[in-house]
Amino acid sequence: MTRNVVVTARTVSRQHSGLRVVLPGSRTSFSTSNGALAPVSYLSRKSSEGKNAIVTGSSQGIGKAIALRLAADGYNVCINDISANAKGCAVVVDEIKSMGRKSCSAIADVTKRDEVQQLVQITVRELGPLHTMVANAGIAQVKPVLDLTEEDFQRMFAVNVFGLQNCYAEAAKQMIADGVVGPDHPGKLIGASSIVGFRSMEMLSHYSATKWAVRGLTQAYALEMAGHHITANAYAPGIVGTSMWDLIDAGMAKKKGHKKGDVMRKLAHERTTLGRVSVAEDVSNLVSFLASRDSDFVTGQTQIVDGGIVFT
Ligand SMILES: NC(=O)c1ccc[n+]([C@@H]2O[C@H](COP(=O)([O-])OP(=O)(O)OC[C@H]3O[C@@H](n4cnc5c(N)ncnc54)[C@H](O)[C@@H]3O)[C@@H](O)[C@H]2O)c1
Repeated sequence: MTRNVVVTARTVSRQHSGLRVVLPGSRTSFSTSNGALAPVSYLSRKSSEGKNAIVTGSSQGIGKAIALRLAADGYNVCINDISANAKGCAVVVDEIKSMGRKSCSAIADVTKRDEVQQLVQITVRELGPLHTMVANAGIAQVKPVLDLTEEDFQRMFAVNVFGLQNCYAEAAKQMIADGVVGPDHPGKLIGASSIVGFRSMEMLSHYSATKWAVRGLTQAYALEMAGHHITANAYAPGIVGTSMWDLIDAGMAKKKGHKKGDVMRKLAHERTTLGRVSVAEDVSNLVSFLASRDSDFVTGQTQIVDGGIVFT
């Protein structure tokens, strides 16, 4: 829904992106802070119409919400997941096509470099040059730190860190080779961190460590890719009601002798300033910004979206 706001010249600079601003009379431009004249259209978020994005792990949960939001913003989107979730991918592809955008699915395990290469190739072939990679796929596991096996540790890092590296690297190489990015239209690498990437949580030790690693890798990409006109940022959700949190909640409840749902409710009510469990759309709202022209001057950041559990 488009909201119309009538503003005076004094309030122009405080307008949010995403709002269409209607100035009194027939005004078509306004003065910027450096005295230049800019068109009124500059005040609303520029469309991402015709750009192409990959969202990994997007058959469900946060990834699905991100894919749908990017499509609503104008992106064509490639949906990715593992083969067990192929049906879910097809549903999201159909939903995006019904919005009038192009979409395709590419089954790939992000832990495997050659499969991620294929994922990028399928996207370029089906949709066109790649502008944005959202490395969202991830796994969690609830286990006391002293019970973790080597396999537990390796698997967690394989998906959440090596997977992200595979996606960032292959996407960046493609963007550079295609020459579609430039100083005023950077390519975007966006990764999934978490609030536990700022303060680790008990029984989520190896998961937490991977989300700290996402922040570190994202900063490194921001530094090395700036010269190639590619930005890198991450999003850090709190407690989002997806199948991942169902798993965490059930695992913690079992270890602590609580009822299913209790841990999530307790954390939401005692620790979340805004007093509710997050929904996937809270996260996709932030990723929409990170994937848009409005964030072109933002890089190396991990932005929290948690209703106020962790303050930075
Ligand atoms: N749910 C939360 O509260 C929360 C909080 C902070 C961060 N996150 C992060 O957000 C991201 C999405 O989480 P979610 O809650 O939607 O989880 P989810 O389990 O609902 O979805 C994750 C998706 O990733 C896919 N996936 C797993 N391994 C993969 C692989 N090797 N290759 C390709 N796809 C793979 C899964 O099949 C699944 O569809 C994850 O990185 C997660 O760590 C979630």
